[in-house]
Amino acid sequence: MKYVEAGGVKLSVIGLGTWQFGSGEWAYGQRYATSVAPEIVSRSLDLGVNLIDTAEIYGFGRSEEIVGRSITERRRDVFLATKLFPLAPFDPVLKSRVSGSMKRLGVDDVDLYQLHWHNPVVPLKMTLDALGRLREKGHVRNIGVSNFSLPLWEEAERVAKGPVISNQVRYSLADRSIEPEMIRWAQDHDRIVIAYSPLGQGLLSGRYDAANVPKGMRASAPAFLPENLKKATPLIETLREIARAHDASCSQVALAWVVRHPNVVVIPGASSVAQAEENAAAADIELTDAEFDELGAASESYNPTRGLASLGAVLRVRSQRFIERLRRTGDALSA
Ligand SMILES: NC(=O)c1ccc[n+]([C@@H]2O[C@H](COP(=O)([O-])OP(=O)(O)OC[C@H]3O[C@@H](n4cnc5c(N)ncnc54)[C@H](OP(=O)(O)O)[C@@H]3O)[C@@H](O)[C@H]2O)c1
Repeated sequence: MKYVEAGGVKLSVIGLGTWQFGSGEWAYGQRYATSVAPEIVSRSLDLGVNLIDTAEIYGFGRSEEIVGRSITERRRDVFLATKLFPLAPFDPVLKSRVSGSMKRLGVDDVDLYQLHWHNPVVPLKMTLDALGRLREKGHVRNIGVSNFSLPLWEEAERVAKGPVISNQVRYSLADRSIEPEMIRWAQDHDRIVIAYSPLGQGLLSGRYDAANVPKGMRASAPAFLPENLKKATPLIETLREIARAHDASCSQVALAWVVRHPNVVVIPGASSVAQAEENAAAADIELTDAEFDELGAASESYNPTRGLASLGAVLRVRSQRFIERLRRTGDALSA
């Protein structure tokens, strides 16, 4: 495993995301929540992963509970990160919210407490002052933000009475919408960018096409619309070709590309222990400059339909799936 040291902390370049743990959106089921998820945590720690990311909103606290149960014996091996849902993010609400997270996690402190999104109605200073007090009391060791633009992160640094060591943002070959300056800024200021959805929620594994779409929320997510899966083909082909040269998988190459950026770590989720093992091993893949550039160029040419433009297609796919379900139910009832 490789590590990034910045802002006084040391994080594995490959971390573990746990939105999947106990959350209905991923449709992984009960066995996953009760037995696979703890095994994923344990195996990841064995492989040198120390960054484990959760949030109070994931599964409405279930993810924190599962992570908490999985690390009881190994608290010292973990750099534990959770996130505050930004509803009323000020004192004394915030104090009770961090206590709730610590209780579910079964810990006395959290290594990184992140503001999940900016709440534009609440002055940033008010939230950061409250977070600063939690840090002074030792409940949280470090403060971070998430889904912040670079100017907002800089503002957070200005108004906070201490460092805001990280910004957790969506970043992958499938989505490079964060400003390129953000990574440079992090490097210049001894800060860390934590890249979420580094596999484009599984798109970059190359496993999916119009005939094989994942279950759960992804079934009607814009990235998995048939037209967008088709648009991703050249990017996936580039990943395949480079993966072959490294005797690796597309997912591993996609992760290696992200962590080749300085001061950037990834927190991929995993649906199995084998995936978590594969992801951890991606830390050892050294892409050449030519491969890095080729992937970057393929990613720049990938231009899926997003936002409002994808709404019509999303609704069409949802209604087709609904009609299909109704038809199957009708067939089952009349059989
Ligand atoms: N701050 C935020 O607002 C925010 C937002 C989103 C996520 N996050 C965090 O970031 C984490 C990761 O993001 P994400 O879960 O959205 O997306 P992701 O990590 O890009 O994708 C995870 C999914 O990719 C597939 N996968 C993982 N490893 C694989 C492998 N080696 N081979 C093939 N497929 C593989 C699995 O799904 P299948 O096997 O089912 O295909 C897995 O559930 C989350 O768990 C969460 O902690 C934060």
